[in-house]
Amino acid sequence: MSQPDRANRLLGLLPPHAQSRAAAFAEAGGLVTEVHNPRVLVGLLPSAARGFLLQRGKQGVPTLMQASHQAHFDWSYSSDQQEMRELYRRAKQNQWDAEVALDWSVDVDPLNPERPILPYEFFAFERFAKYGPPLPRGSREELTLRADLATWMLSQFLHGEQGALLASAQVTESVQWMDGKFYGATQVMDEARHVEVFHRYLSTKLGKLYDVNDNLFVIIDALMVDSRWDMKFLGMQIMIEGLALGAFGLLYRMTEEPLLKNLLRYVIQDEARHVHYGVIALREHYRTALSERELRERQDWAFEVALLMRNRFMAHEIYEEHYAHLMSRAEWNQSVQESPGMSEFRHTMFERLVPNLAYIGLLDERMKQHYSDAGLLRYAGGKDASQLTGEQMLSELEARGRGDLAAAAE
Ligand SMILES: [Fe+2]
Ligand SMILES: [Fe+2]
Repeated sequence: MSQPDRANRLLGLLPPHAQSRAAAFAEAGGLVTEVHNPRVLVGLLPSAARGFLLQRGKQGVPTLMQASHQAHFDWSYSSDQQEMRELYRRAKQNQWDAEVALDWSVDVDPLNPERPILPYEFFAFERFAKYGPPLPRGSREELTLRADLATWMLSQFLHGEQGALLASAQVTESVQWMDGKFYGATQVMDEARHVEVFHRYLSTKLGKLYDVNDNLFVIIDALMVDSRWDMKFLGMQIMIEGLALGAFGLLYRMTEEPLLKNLLRYVIQDEARHVHYGVIALREHYRTALSERELRERQDWAFEVALLMRNRFMAHEIYEEHYAHLMSRAEWNQSVQESPGMSEFRHTMFERLVPNLAYIGLLDERMKQHYSDAGLLRYAGGKDASQLTGEQMLSELEARGRGDLAAAAE
């Protein structure tokens, strides 16, 4: 028996409460083996302790995080960054009111096989059949599992949006450009609206909300307490927004539920602007204000966090709810990792993320080898956020349609 199998068997002998504590320690331990750069690891450890071990995201309201950044005032009020001023102008014109723009009277039944939130092929349940009773397509159990998975994804979107709301407010205080502050204020409004719509959808249409995932909590915590504005920016505007855009884009293509599709159409257009703002601000900052050592630190951090995002969002809350008594976590991770939906998700995410990292200067010759070893360098030639508007992004997604999920499985 291999070591992970033995560990899983031992874990299975523990009472349920102890099992989830042990699993939390295993998650934290996993981080230690997965992050290869020691400086990045040391930087993440306090957040990992709060997220995995203390379970700060799951201890009820409120969760308090200690912010330590500097607020930057400018009493001259001069316009100092033309591209940000232009984004500010566009953002003002493209504000929307969720009360008016979306038809909330639509009846949503997450178990309706005619208008599923996620297609059957997303999860490829055939892979799970060997671990438990078969889940025939369209059976109540299969539809419930699929609906729960969709609800889990949307719950993480909501929690991520709250992170974006608070981080964009912090960044609005900290950036040195007056035009950046103006633009940032529109983003704070956008993120509030995103929290509003995802929460309303979850509470009034799906009737269920999952806790924040520990891995997401760790990344949000790390950004909120970091005093350097560009790290908040890199983490939130490039990494988490990149992850979100990948997930929103995929769900937009896949879902047959019209209210959600329309909601995502609006959100994607806002998010495309946010990432655009992120890449212009960081490109300028990284070109002009950082030492070689500081730039290397950002390069290593972005690479490690990109891999964590790829490897760790495994819907463990769904595993614990539906499958913990049937298979080990390692088996679950593998099944999820190999599912066509997750494979397509990774593709959509890196297609956006890697060109943005290249644009801001985090993909130099040294880093290319790392990305190549991780199988990610093939995404480097794509369009970055400064070349792609929300409308273009949406038409690309529409042209791609649902595609062939099964063929997308790696
Ligand atoms: Fe957002
Ligand atoms: Fe955003």
